[in-house]
Amino acid sequence: MRKNIVAGNWKMNTTVPEGVQLAKEVCMAVAQAPGIKCEVIVGVPFTHLTAVNEVIDKNYVGLAAENCADHVKGAYTGEVSAPMVASTGANYVILGHSERRGYYNETIEMLKTKVDLALEAGLKVIFCCGESLDERKAGTHFDVIKNEIVGSLFHLDAEAFGKIVIAYEPIWAIGTGETATADQAQEIHAFIRGLLAEQYGAQIADDTTILYGGSCKPSNAAELFAKPDIDGGLIGGASLKAQDFMGIVTAF
Ligand code: 13P
Repeated sequence: MRKNIVAGNWKMNTTVPEGVQLAKEVCMAVAQAPGIKCEVIVGVPFTHLTAVNEVIDKNYVGLAAENCADHVKGAYTGEVSAPMVASTGANYVILGHSERRGYYNETIEMLKTKVDLALEAGLKVIFCCGESLDERKAGTHFDVIKNEIVGSLFHLDAEAFGKIVIAYEPIWAIGTGETATADQAQEIHAFIRGLLAEQYGAQIADDTTILYGGSCKPSNAAELFAKPDIDGGLIGGASLKAQDFMGIVTAF
């Protein structure tokens, strides 16, 4: 059976002391909440990884970086490699977020390399995909998502693919307050699971966790998570306050 996951993506928010405080609050809340039905992860800036790792208990909260480099090491000033991320104690990395694709020109090919390097370093990958508003209006959203997934993930063998979590994040719903309806999200999640079944078979497709991201909040999480193919969320704005984040964690 696949597991449910709620992961925070803090993006470029919080100083290190603020982030440590937030991580402590989340970890304490998860530890004290009865019967949580999902794995909880915080995705934090590179600068925060080591400090946050020290204050969370991995039995309750996993740790993700928000990116890693497309090289292992060397003369790449300012970059942070997958082995460096792993050495902080992080167990996940978020790759292919639309903000990375859009603002930093990350291509499908580059993400394929990043996925390989992350897996080689022992990290699990939360791989983001999703269409823009123009692409949805033009009716090309299924093709866009398929290309992103096929191009960066389908070279993996079945064992490696078992370390992948997919996050569907329609770009038009990120930070806009506009959420995909639960039916819209379910339609895409079912489509993605169908792609996985064609490539890897029904069992692996069934075992893969597929998250929804985009203006997910305590007030809409339960309706989204009730859909058969929505296995949790990747949460931006609402992951920056422990109380809001917990409202989503407990929405199952
Ligand atoms: P918001 O929850 O702020 O819309 O962001 C979603 C997101 O991009 C998570 O990766």
